[in-house]
Amino acid sequence: MSVAQQLSHVFPLGSRINAAGHLEVGGCDTVELAREFGTPAFVVAEDDLRARARAFVEALRARHDDFDVLFASKAFPCTAVYRVLAEEGLSCDVASGGELSLALRGGFDPARIYLHGNAKSLAELNAAIDAGVGHVVLDGFADIDRLERIAAERGLGTAGGGGAQRVLIRVTPGVAGTTHEKISTGQADSKFGFGVDDARRAIARLRESSSLELVGLHMHIGSQLLALDAFRPAAEVLASLGDFPVYNVGGGLGVAYTAAQEPPSIEQYVDVHVRALHELFGRDKRLLIEPGRALVANSTVTLYTVETVKRNVSTWVGVDGGMSDNLRPMLYGSVYEALFADRPATAGTGERAHVAGKHCESGDVIVRDVPLDDPRPGDVLVTPATGAYGHAMANNYNGIPRPPVIFCKDGDARVVVRRETYDDLAARDVP
Ligand SMILES: Cc1ncc(COP(=O)(O)O)c(C=O)c1O
Repeated sequence: MSVAQQLSHVFPLGSRINAAGHLEVGGCDTVELAREFGTPAFVVAEDDLRARARAFVEALRARHDDFDVLFASKAFPCTAVYRVLAEEGLSCDVASGGELSLALRGGFDPARIYLHGNAKSLAELNAAIDAGVGHVVLDGFADIDRLERIAAERGLGTAGGGGAQRVLIRVTPGVAGTTHEKISTGQADSKFGFGVDDARRAIARLRESSSLELVGLHMHIGSQLLALDAFRPAAEVLASLGDFPVYNVGGGLGVAYTAAQEPPSIEQYVDVHVRALHELFGRDKRLLIEPGRALVANSTVTLYTVETVKRNVSTWVGVDGGMSDNLRPMLYGSVYEALFADRPATAGTGERAHVAGKHCESGDVIVRDVPLDDPRPGDVLVTPATGAYGHAMANNYNGIPRPPVIFCKDGDARVVVRRETYDDLAARDVP
């Protein structure tokens, strides 16, 4: 077997086992990265991010004229990631005032930003209007009330007051994809969006509004979808709500966290949406997609250092991070692979062990029941596919400083988010 074949599609594009037998990401030796930057650390292959952004754009361009790809930035809200994806020509979806501020800092044109949120504050709506965001995705009647008031106060939609604020309505179509209940959002009983009957009322109301211009409908039926079959019935529900110039069909495309997982390709995902659009709405519509996870998850690996190896009923490999840098296994029972940076070729062999974090919770287990080749304290352990919702959900539980984000490209590594310090932990204290 050639060396290249030993790394699965779970790893960032271009990853390989180098001449020293070490895992290389973005042309950088991960053993050296751990030595230079410490652990835990998020290591991002910049070319992987760019390649996936291009793959979404190309897949759409090949099938449909009027489209846009929105980076669902909740998946990896980091200025450097915003910057790369803005450079790649994407638009951006933000779910809070904080994400909006990062997106602007990262260089997104406000006109290409879409503000989401099921509980937007007045301050967030005001900030969005001040920034000139292109679209607000309305999630409930309270959103309409508030945004109309803000827009009216500023004279939007009146002669001399500027154009009306463009909005979409988020519809909860009552169709759920197959995924973990905590990331399923299309079902009728959801905190997100308007149910179908309420959506009809919201549409009627917005058609009367002079300060808000309803341009289209939005849906996002769930995340980490490994089957595409729910998208079409969900689009049919949107089709029953009238004819609009814009349809935003959300994100949701699942990714491989383990070599055994074979998610649909970006082309297959785009194809399903474009077909539904052409058949249900027509070829003259603007199609928006909003991938988060599928853009960023596989671009990144996390490096940890093994601190302890304990053998009781099981083997417990304790590392220097855990639920402060990857909450997903604890929130959704997500699965990951693990291997050692200096001997990736032996991945999948050795004694079965649990990779445990250092936090004071029994549930702080990052990977369960994974074969590990002779784990020892000091080993650099790697978990691939941590680009989505890892940095995003990082926290300071147990006073653990959050890890740095390191971009690697053509063998050069640069820190784009520094490691937190103990001083950072006290930075908000008021003496
Ligand atoms: C409105 C909306 N759009 C897009 C996404 C991105 O989803 P994914 O990361 O599954 O592509 C989410 C995720 O929660 C979302 O809520």
